[in-house]
Amino acid sequence: MGENMIELAKKNNNLNIIGIEPLLNGQCNLADYCINNSVKNIYIYTYPVQIFFKKYPKLNFSCCYILFPDPWYKKKHNKRRLINFEFLKTLVARTQKIYFLSDNYDYYLKVKSFASKLKNVKIFLSSRKFKTANTKYFLRAKRLKNKLYYLTIDKE
Ligand SMILES: C[S@@+](CC[C@H](N)C(=O)[O-])C[C@H]1O[C@@H](n2cnc3c(N)ncnc32)[C@H](O)[C@@H]1O
Repeated sequence: MGENMIELAKKNNNLNIIGIEPLLNGQCNLADYCINNSVKNIYIYTYPVQIFFKKYPKLNFSCCYILFPDPWYKKKHNKRRLINFEFLKTLVARTQKIYFLSDNYDYYLKVKSFASKLKNVKIFLSSRKFKTANTKYFLRAKRLKNKLYYLTIDKE
């Protein structure tokens, strides 16, 4: 429901938060919360992030959170994952700091490996825990006692 965006928006009311969510249900829940709680610094983009990047080629971000992206467990479905090398390249080019969190070890390792292969950009990788809201999938991972894999990609 955009729990992390809501927390960020409330803590940083001087910042604009862009929530990119292609699913109608998530958009409606977030919009409903913002309207009912006078949260005025969240902008909801209702198409996939890849389209956002094409439509707004000049918009850059101070930070970006990718929390529990769909893991697509089966190897043959890995190509459906949001983060592949090309996507990460674009994201890093446009973002100062990226916070990735997943309970899927393979996804975490892949993202780490893509990041280490980036050229012409100086980045720092850290697997230290960072703060997030208790999102739906965060709580699910906790309930299932899944290990959490944190990765921060920080541009110099
Ligand atoms: C497993 S859910 C995790 C939701 C939330 N981050 C959490 O921690 O509870 C994955 C989310 O990624 C969104 N998503 C999938 N593909 C996307 C894309 N191409 N662009 C933006 N969001 C996408 C889905 O709509 C869904 O809300």
